[in-house]
Amino acid sequence: MLVVGIDTSCDDTSIAVYDGHGNKVLSNIVSSQYEFHRPFGGVVPEVAARKHAENIDVVFEEALRVAGIGVEDIRLVAVTRAPGLLPALLVGLTFGKGVAFWKDIPFKGVHHIEAHLLSPFIGSEPEYPFLGLVVSGGHTLIVLAEEFGKYRVIGKTLDDAVGEAYDKVAKMLNLGYPGGPVIDRIYREFEGEYLELPKPRVKGFNYSFSGIKTAVRRLIEKGYPPEQIAASFQKTAVEYLVGKLKKALKETEVKRIAVSGGVSANSLLREKLKEIEEQGYRVYLPKMEFTSDNGAMVAYVGYRRFLLEGGDSLEVGALPRMSLEEVSS
Ligand code: KG4
Ligand code: ZN
Repeated sequence: MLVVGIDTSCDDTSIAVYDGHGNKVLSNIVSSQYEFHRPFGGVVPEVAARKHAENIDVVFEEALRVAGIGVEDIRLVAVTRAPGLLPALLVGLTFGKGVAFWKDIPFKGVHHIEAHLLSPFIGSEPEYPFLGLVVSGGHTLIVLAEEFGKYRVIGKTLDDAVGEAYDKVAKMLNLGYPGGPVIDRIYREFEGEYLELPKPRVKGFNYSFSGIKTAVRRLIEKGYPPEQIAASFQKTAVEYLVGKLKKALKETEVKRIAVSGGVSANSLLREKLKEIEEQGYRVYLPKMEFTSDNGAMVAYVGYRRFLLEGGDSLEVGALPRMSLEEVSS
């Protein structure tokens, strides 16, 4: 059963063709808009929506071409409907509904965080229970996944997402956008001493990144070299992420971890996860192409949801905010 997965929740126009039965991604095309948002140091929703609208049919055709299929072969259209930038979400959703209506095939709305959460398992089946650490530009949360569709958010950021903190720190240091990959590279090359940055104490498995950001601003004002600040920021941010994750593992006694989202591409985070693996845990990470926003994860989840619940009405709307628990049983 061939499924088309569409994601336009933020600044990537992404469409994939996924063979549900064979559990295989046949194509995954991503058209990134970074260069258009770079001058602003962050994503501008209206610019994102306009670029999605300009690109989406080309990305769709390319996804079909690479997969070697025609429109008539598609059996399900899965689209991210929430959460995300509303004008951006609407472009993908409207396009997807249009294809479903035109070809008279089912349509399924997908929750973006559920798609990230299960992205490490694309090509295989998730093993439950697992703890999911979703770390992206818009989200930072720890989820206890008990079974497919049954999720409990046990920790989240109280302010900025970790990816957002990366992007803001990079902006303050004039390193460009997006900040994650640049800061990660600087960290790898840095050989000096690390500066002290706070790891905010917040309750339970929650996070807070705004204090780290303020501390970075102070270090900039004091005149420390940008490389030293950037490397120290990465060290602190990743240690903080992993520290809380370890605490959650201990308290929940869950032995499997699935880390996903744009920041799961981070080299230091991957190193630390390897150490956790050596302590007897099973760590699942997405393939690099599935770390940032992509249509494949949407198709993967949309297909499984469709098998369980059937299709959605074309009346289903886009929502800028929607907690993962709202799609949880
Ligand atoms: O998942 P994603 O593509 O978008 C959202 O759904 O938000 O994540 C994008 C975020 C950006 O903030 C970017 O700076 C960050 O992921 N990122 C990284 C790395 N690569 C991307 N952060 C840290 N290290 C990286 N290597
Ligand atoms: Zn995302």
